[in-house]
Amino acid sequence: MGITVIGSLNYDLVTYTDLVPSSGETIRANKFETHPGGKGSNQCNSIAKLKSKNLDYKVKMIGSVGNDSFGTQLVDLLKQNNVDVTDLAVLDNYQTGIATILVEEATGQNRILIAEGANGQSVYTPTQLEKLFPQSLQSLQNDEQDEYIVFQHEIPDPCSIMKWLKENRSTYQIIYNPSPFKKLSREQWLLSDILVVNEIEAMQIVESVYPKEEHTAYKLAIEKNFIEAYKTLCTDFQKKLVNQQNSATVIITLGSRGVLFCSKNEPTVGYLPAVSGIKVVDTTGAGDTFLGGIVSQLYEKKSLADAALFATTASSLAIQKRGAAESIPTHLQVLTTIKQ
Ligand code: RIB
Ligand code: NA
Repeated sequence: MGITVIGSLNYDLVTYTDLVPSSGETIRANKFETHPGGKGSNQCNSIAKLKSKNLDYKVKMIGSVGNDSFGTQLVDLLKQNNVDVTDLAVLDNYQTGIATILVEEATGQNRILIAEGANGQSVYTPTQLEKLFPQSLQSLQNDEQDEYIVFQHEIPDPCSIMKWLKENRSTYQIIYNPSPFKKLSREQWLLSDILVVNEIEAMQIVESVYPKEEHTAYKLAIEKNFIEAYKTLCTDFQKKLVNQQNSATVIITLGSRGVLFCSKNEPTVGYLPAVSGIKVVDTTGAGDTFLGGIVSQLYEKKSLADAALFATTASSLAIQKRGAAESIPTHLQVLTTIKQ
């Protein structure tokens, strides 16, 4: 019973700068820092920090790091946050994944280049998956959806793991955050029960799986009325692009313009504006913090609207600090901010 993240762990090498260089250009930056990151481990740390302290469920990370000091620091941070790391591989002949990040100080916006390193080895055979996800007696006895498995796309083939889970552990809920974006078939999209995408990924999905006319129509509609067009898209994804067996939930984040959400049980698209009036320092990992907020709260049976408010508040706190994993707030900090 609990939440497992199966994905990447990266160490972030972050340069803070006023300008980013053009090709062939050398310029001076303001400062350089190293921070724990990686979409998988950020999301896992976020779930662990944002879960209710009075609820006792397991948060687990599955993935691979190199046998180096970056890997050690990433594993230590997960352990500090009480994450189960027993199935995290430390590989002798690979480097820990590295993200080279440029953060523009005026806006806090980032550019990220990842070198996958050990993450490239996070490929699992059916025999390994049997061991990683043993069939519990409870899930054999009742239909309760008591396991959440969270995926991003910084490991080679998350979809084949999702497919195995759907075929062999049908009560598990699959949460998919398609980042960085990769083209998938309609069948692959349909493996997820809860799909969390940003506005850019949403349009990349439309471009890759919808007929050309529909893509063009959506692009025009977005220019005319941004929120309304994305609302229509949210409903469309909810009906056509997620597994209909379970909650069939779709969440589209729109950055500074807010977030949209709907599900099979709450089909009317909900909208929540972003938190305004804050100084954005570093947006790296904001989406991962948001995802951890959503996933922990939905697991704890909160409504979509409550989970969205919690997650939006969490990411608004994260973007006011530098670093990805280290800027994730605690459950209490989020609750206190919501009450203010
Ligand atoms: O989502 C932010 C993360 O993307 C960074 O921490 C970096 O490691 C990349 O994986
Ligand atoms: Na941050």
